[in-house]
Amino acid sequence: MTLSVCAHRGSPSVLPENTVGSFLQAVEEGADEIELDLRLSADGRLVVMHDATVDRTTDGTGAVAELTLRQLQALDAGGGAWIPSFEEVLDGVGARLQVEIKAPEAAGPLAELLRDRPDDLARISPCCFDPDVVAELVRLFPDAPVGLIASGGSAESLDRAVELGASRVLFGWAGTDRALVEKAQAHGLEFSVWLVNTPEQLRDAQALGVDGFTTDETAVIAAELARI
Ligand code: G3P
Ligand code: CA
Repeated sequence: MTLSVCAHRGSPSVLPENTVGSFLQAVEEGADEIELDLRLSADGRLVVMHDATVDRTTDGTGAVAELTLRQLQALDAGGGAWIPSFEEVLDGVGARLQVEIKAPEAAGPLAELLRDRPDDLARISPCCFDPDVVAELVRLFPDAPVGLIASGGSAESLDRAVELGASRVLFGWAGTDRALVEKAQAHGLEFSVWLVNTPEQLRDAQALGVDGFTTDETAVIAAELARI
C-alpha cells in the first residue's frame, strides 16, 4: 500500500516553517501533500501562521489577528522569508494542501476565496481540532476531504468524525492502534497519524495500517520509503 506523505508546515528542519520556500522544499523532497496553518490578519486576509502571535517565528511581537497583512509581511520569518498570504501559497505551490484552520473565523473567508478558484478548491483538504469547526467545514466544503485532528486516537474522536461527516481523521500516536485504524477505514475514513519523523516511526505507522502520515522530515521519510 502506498502511504501518503504530508509535510508538516513544509520542511521545517531545512527552511522556516509555514513559508513558501519551506513548502517548495518539501515538494522537492517528495511530499504528496503540504500541511499549513491558517489565520486571519487584522484586515481580514488569510495568512499562513501556526501560532496566535508572531513572537516565536518572526523578529516581531504581537497577535496575528491584531496586525495587518502589510505589517505581518514586513516581519522577517527567518533567513529573509516572510509570512505568506494564503493566495501566495496557492499561486506558488502546486501541491495538495492540508489546510488547518487555527482561527475559526478563517473558515468562511477560505470558502469565499476558493469559490472562484475551482482548481485550487479541488486540491484542498481543510481540517481542524475543533469538532464545531469541522462541522462548519463539512458544510462549506461538501466535496472536499475534511479532516478532524486530535492529539491522540480515541473511539470517541473517531465516532465524532463519523457523526460530523468528516472524510479523514488525523490522530496523534497516543491511543492509536490497529483496531482504531481499521474501524476508521471500515467507516470509509482515511486515517493519518502524526508525526512520523524517523524510519522506526515509519515502520510503526505501516504496522498500524494507516493511509498516510504527517512528518517534519519529508526527506528522511521519502528516502526510507524508496529503500523499502
Ligand atoms: O498534523 C497535525 C498537526 O498539524 C497539528 O498540530 O500544532 O502542528 O498544528 P500543530
Ligand atoms: Ca497544523
